[in-house]
Amino acid sequence: MGELSGKVAVVTGGTRGIGYATARELAEAGSEVVLTGRDEAEAKQRADELGVSGMALNVTDAKAVGSAIRAVAKEHGQLDVVVANAGVLQDALVGMIREEAVDELLSTNVAGTIHTVQAAARAMMRRKTGAIVVLASIVGERGSAGQTAYAASKAAVGNVARSTAKELGRYGIRVNAVAPGVIETRMTAHLGEEVRSRRVADTPLGRLGHPEEVARAIRFLVSDDASFITGQVLGVDGGLVL
Ligand SMILES: NC(=O)c1ccc[n+]([C@@H]2O[C@H](COP(=O)([O-])OP(=O)(O)OC[C@H]3O[C@@H](n4cnc5c(N)ncnc54)[C@H](OP(=O)(O)O)[C@@H]3O)[C@@H](O)[C@H]2O)c1
Repeated sequence: MGELSGKVAVVTGGTRGIGYATARELAEAGSEVVLTGRDEAEAKQRADELGVSGMALNVTDAKAVGSAIRAVAKEHGQLDVVVANAGVLQDALVGMIREEAVDELLSTNVAGTIHTVQAAARAMMRRKTGAIVVLASIVGERGSAGQTAYAASKAAVGNVARSTAKELGRYGIRVNAVAPGVIETRMTAHLGEEVRSRRVADTPLGRLGHPEEVARAIRFLVSDDASFITGQVLGVDGGLVL
């Protein structure tokens, strides 16, 4: 029996990277998991690899998020865990940021996270229990040259966790954020050697992180071991924030 057995979990953006590692981690801990991605065939294929369920979902579409989460809760009779992980990154110096890029970053990272937390809260309130984790970033805590829009979006995500934790505590629902440092995924694959070396040099643990290391922190936050933890933004960054 795993620590999450009997629980039902949804992980948005579970087709690769941190979301995929989280779906695997939660499934290994005994949870029934539904992972989502924008493309149905890919979501189903990645889910099959893990022996979990997969569905198409674009988090920028509030109605679609609401019906997908409701459908999972209805099918399983409950919803215990939601990880609002779906996110995008676009780098640009402030003088070069395109309007479309700002729109995409805010509609996915901020609005998409709010839609997901809202749908999760609605599905969890009646049972007066649940755990939600959202994906912030060290960049949202510290800022980053060339990442103004992304940094703004991720700072907002931290405040989604803090505000909804205040609001939903009375329903027994905990909301926390993780703030990864630089993690080796497709999102960071474009970083050049010079930037990587600088990040490693600035990181007390002297390396970049792996998706599994973020997934394990998420597993802890959604488990009963974190039963009195809510509204926190937990750095998973090798000390880079210091
Ligand atoms: N990697 C890092 O260093 C790092 C650091 C700090 C924070 N984070 C955050 O951690 C989260 C995961 O990052 P990652 O590195 O694992 O990124 P990734 O490898 O690029 O994966 C992103 C995931 O989000 C999904 N996604 C993107 N837009 C979506 C949308 N509109 N609707 C639904 N799903 C969408 C993608 O699915 P499809 O493309 O299949 O739809 C994919 O599964 C993000 O929120 C990111 O900002 C990452």
